[in-house]
Amino acid sequence: HAQTIALKVESDKPGAKIDRQLFGQFAEHLGRGVYEGVWVGPDSSIPNTRGIRNDVVAALKELRVPNVRWPGGCFADEYHWRNGIGPLQDRPATLNPNWGGVIEPNSFGTHEFMDFVQQIGAEAYISVNVGSGTPQEAADWFEYMTTDQPTTLAKQRAANGHPEPYGISFIGLGNESWGCGGSMTPEEYAAQLRIYARYTRNYNARHPALKIAVGPDSAETGYTEAVMKAWKERNWSWDFNGLSLHYYTVGAGFPPKFAATGFGTSEYATLIKYTLRMNELLRTHEAIMDKYDPEKKIALVVDEWGAWLAPTPGSKEGFLEQQNSVRDAIIAALNINIFARHADRVRMANIAQMVNVLQAMILTDQDKLVLTPTYHVFHMYVPFQDATFVPVAFDAGTYVNGAIKLPKVDAIAAKGKDGKTWLSVTNIDPSAPAQLEIPTRAKRAAGRILSAPKIDSVNTFASPTTVAPKPYEAKASSGKITLKLPPHSIAVIALEEQ
Ligand code: AHR
Repeated sequence: HAQTIALKVESDKPGAKIDRQLFGQFAEHLGRGVYEGVWVGPDSSIPNTRGIRNDVVAALKELRVPNVRWPGGCFADEYHWRNGIGPLQDRPATLNPNWGGVIEPNSFGTHEFMDFVQQIGAEAYISVNVGSGTPQEAADWFEYMTTDQPTTLAKQRAANGHPEPYGISFIGLGNESWGCGGSMTPEEYAAQLRIYARYTRNYNARHPALKIAVGPDSAETGYTEAVMKAWKERNWSWDFNGLSLHYYTVGAGFPPKFAATGFGTSEYATLIKYTLRMNELLRTHEAIMDKYDPEKKIALVVDEWGAWLAPTPGSKEGFLEQQNSVRDAIIAALNINIFARHADRVRMANIAQMVNVLQAMILTDQDKLVLTPTYHVFHMYVPFQDATFVPVAFDAGTYVNGAIKLPKVDAIAAKGKDGKTWLSVTNIDPSAPAQLEIPTRAKRAAGRILSAPKIDSVNTFASPTTVAPKPYEAKASSGKITLKLPPHSIAVIALEEQ
C-alpha cells in the first residue's frame, strides 16, 4: 500500500524567473556531434538546408532551444576561427587531438554555426580560444562577426556571404582553463580573463552580449574565489557577467565506468545520488559568489552538465557516444529542478551535448534519427521556460537502496508565461509507484507523462518510441487532485481551473 505524499503548491510565494537560458544546448566538434549530427554538407543525400540536417533542425525547433554553446569544450581552446571561413574547398584540414585525433575538415565554421542557430531559432554562445589562441585572434573574430563598419574583416565577412553583422548573445572566455584549456592556476586564469574580457569586443550595439568567465570544476573552489575576487576589484576597463560551473553525473570519477544500459537498481541509485550533488555544489559556489556579489549580478552558468557514462561498446574512442535511458530522463529532470530552485543565481545552463555525444537529445545513424528520453524531458519542460518559480512544500519520502537513501519523489512548480500553474513531478523510486495528493482549487491536471517498462529502457532506430510521453490527466475530487505515478516516471502537468 503506497503512502500518499501531499504536495502543497505555494502560488502565493512566487520566486525567481526560471530563465529559458537554463535549457541551453552544447555542440562541440567532438565525434559525430557536429559532423553527421548537424552538418552533412550541401551535397549529402540526407535532406539538408545549406548542409544542415533538416530532421535535426525540425526536432530541435520543438524544444525552443534558447542557446547553443560552440565550438567547445576542450576543442574551443584549440580552435582557430580563420580555418572555418571562406569557400569550403579552400578550408584547411586540421586535427582534433582531444577527441579521437581525427581530421577536422573545418567545413562547419562561423557562418555554418550561425546559420544553424538561426534555423533552430536559438541564440549563439561562442567560446573563444584562450588556451592556444591570442587576445588578438579573439578580438579579430568578434570584429569579423559583429562590426557594421567597413573594416577589412567586415568586408571579408560580407564576401563570405553575410554583409549584416551577426548578433552573438554569449561569449565564453575560455573553457576549463584549469584543465584542457591551459592548466592554469586560478590566478593565472584571472590574469588572462582581464585581458580577454577587455579585448573580446562585441561591436553590435543592437545585440548585447554577455561574457562568461571560466569557473569551477565540480566542488573545487579555487577558481570561484579567484575569479569573483578579480570581478570585485575590476574597473571600467573590463567586466564579465557569468561564472561557469562544470559538473557531470559520472559516478565515482573518470574514466566513466557506469554502463548506459543493462544496469540494475544499485547503479541507478548511485547515479541519482551523484546527480543530486548538483544542489550542494550550487550552494557551495553561490555562498562564495554572495560574498563578492551579494546583488547577484554575476550569473552562475552550468554550461556543462549531464550523465557521462561508459561509451557504447564498439564506438570510436574519444567519440563519447552513449545510449540514453529512462535513467537519463530522470537525471535531466532532477538537474533542471535543482537549477529552477537556484534560479535567482543560476540563470543559464547547457546540457552536454546536443546530438550523438554524452547525454544527447538526438541520436543519428546516416539518414535515421531517434529522439532520446532526455529530449522528451526537455520537450515536456518547455512551459517552464521563463516561467516564475513557485515553491512546492512536500515530504519527499525515502527510497532506500543498500546504503543509499534518496528522496522518493521530486517536484517543482512554476507559473508559466501562458498564465497556467505547471507542475513537474518525478517518481525516483525504480520499483514502487508513487501517489501524490495536491490540495487545489483546480478542476483537473492535464499534461504528459514519461514512463517505460524498465529503468534502462531506451529508444533505438528499430524501436524509436519505447520511451515517449503519453497524455496524462487527473480530475479533482473534494478539493484535491490525486496523481498516481508508475515507478521511474516524470509527469509535467498544468493545473486547470476548468
Ligand atoms: O563535454 C565533453 C568535454 O567535457 C568538454 O570538451 C570539456 O569541456 C569537458 O571536460
